[in-house]
Amino acid sequence: MKPDTQYLHTGNEVDPLYGASSVPIYQASTFHQGFDDEVLYDYARSGNPTRAALENIVATLEGGVRGFAFSSGMAAITAALLILPSGSHVIACEDLYGGTFRALTRVFTRLGIETTFVDATDPQNIARALRPNTKAVYLETPSNPTMRIIDIRACAEIAKGAGAVTMVDNTFMTPYFQKPHELGADIVLHSATKFLGGHSDVIAGVATVNSDALAQEMYLIQNGFGAVLGPQDCFLVMRGIKTLGVRMRQSEATAIRLAAFLREEPQVQRIYYPGIKEHEGHATHMRQATGPGALLSFTLRDEDAVRAFVKRLKLPLFAVSLGAVESILSYPIRMSHAAMPEEERQKRGITAGLLRMSVGLEDIEDLIEDFRQAFAAL
Ligand SMILES: Cc1ncc(COP(=O)(O)O)c(C=O)c1O
Repeated sequence: MKPDTQYLHTGNEVDPLYGASSVPIYQASTFHQGFDDEVLYDYARSGNPTRAALENIVATLEGGVRGFAFSSGMAAITAALLILPSGSHVIACEDLYGGTFRALTRVFTRLGIETTFVDATDPQNIARALRPNTKAVYLETPSNPTMRIIDIRACAEIAKGAGAVTMVDNTFMTPYFQKPHELGADIVLHSATKFLGGHSDVIAGVATVNSDALAQEMYLIQNGFGAVLGPQDCFLVMRGIKTLGVRMRQSEATAIRLAAFLREEPQVQRIYYPGIKEHEGHATHMRQATGPGALLSFTLRDEDAVRAFVKRLKLPLFAVSLGAVESILSYPIRMSHAAMPEEERQKRGITAGLLRMSVGLEDIEDLIEDFRQAFAAL
C-alpha cells in the first residue's frame, strides 16, 4: 500500500464487533478472566486493545517489529535508555532536544550512564568516541533546532560494528518522510505529541524496535515502569495518523515557499532548512528522506529583533511544540532548549536571534503577509 492508504487502512479495519469506523476506546483498567482461560489482556498497564492498535499502526508505518506507546515523548525516550545496563556509555549527537539532553546529563548519570556528545554530522566522530562499554548511539536528524543532518546508515553501521544499538528520534520527519529502521536504526522514537498526533491536543510518545529481543526489553520497561499512554490519548494519536500524509505534504509545500520568502528578507541573517540546496547535509538528507519537511529555523539580529517580530506576528502560535495543524513559532533559548546550559547552546548555534517555525496548514499567502508586516516593524 502507498502511505496515504496505509494511514487509513492499517489497524483501522472495520471493528469486528459492531462495524465501527474507528478503533473503540477501551476505557477499562482491568479485564475479566475465566478461571482457566489464557487471556490476551488482563490489566491495562500491561496491555489495552486501544493502545495495542496504536502500537501496531506505528510499528507497521516505521517498519519495526513492535511498537510501544508511552505517556509522553520523554517517557518513550527514557524507556529506550532504561534498557541499557548501569555503567553504559552512550554517544549522542550534540544538537538534540533539550529534554533529552537534560535526561542524559542529569538523570541517567545517576545510574552511571555517561554520555559523550559528538558532532555526528561526521560519523567518524562516533567511531572516535567509542569505548568498550558503549551500548548506544543516539541520534536526531534533522536536529533540533539547527537542522543538522546526520547520515543514519553510516552511524548505525559504526554502532553495530561496536555492538551498540542505534536510537533515532524521528519526531521531525515521521515515517512519512524518513524510516530509520530501513537505514539500520534499532529503536525509533517519537514525541507523538507532534506530527503523529498533529493537532496540539495530546501529549504522547511512541517507540518502535526492530527485533524481538529489543521488544522484550522495551516491554519489560513499559510494563515495569508503567508510563503507558491512556486509551483516549491513543485514540487521538490514531485519528491524527489518518491524515498524516496530507498534512505533511501540505505543510512541507508551504515551508518550501516560506523558506524562499525568508531568503529574500534582509532582516533574516540565516536560514536552516534541509530543503535548501546550500544547507549543509542537504544531499545526505535527500538520500535518506523523501522530503525536507515542515520545520525551519532562522536567525534575526538579536533578542530585541526577535521580541519586536514576535509581538507583531498574528498567525503562528508563539509556543513550545511543533508538528500541528496550526503554525507554531518557538524561541529555542527560552523554550525547547531552556534546559541546556548557555555555553552548550552557544556551541550549537542556538543563539538569542534564533527562531524555529513549524509550518502548519494556513494559506501561504496569509503567512507571508503576516511575516512581511512583522518584519516591517524591525
Ligand atoms: C524532537 C523531540 N523529541 C522529543 C520530545 C519530547 O516529547 P514530549 O514533549 O512529548 O515528551 C520533543 C518535544 O518537544 C521533541 O521536539
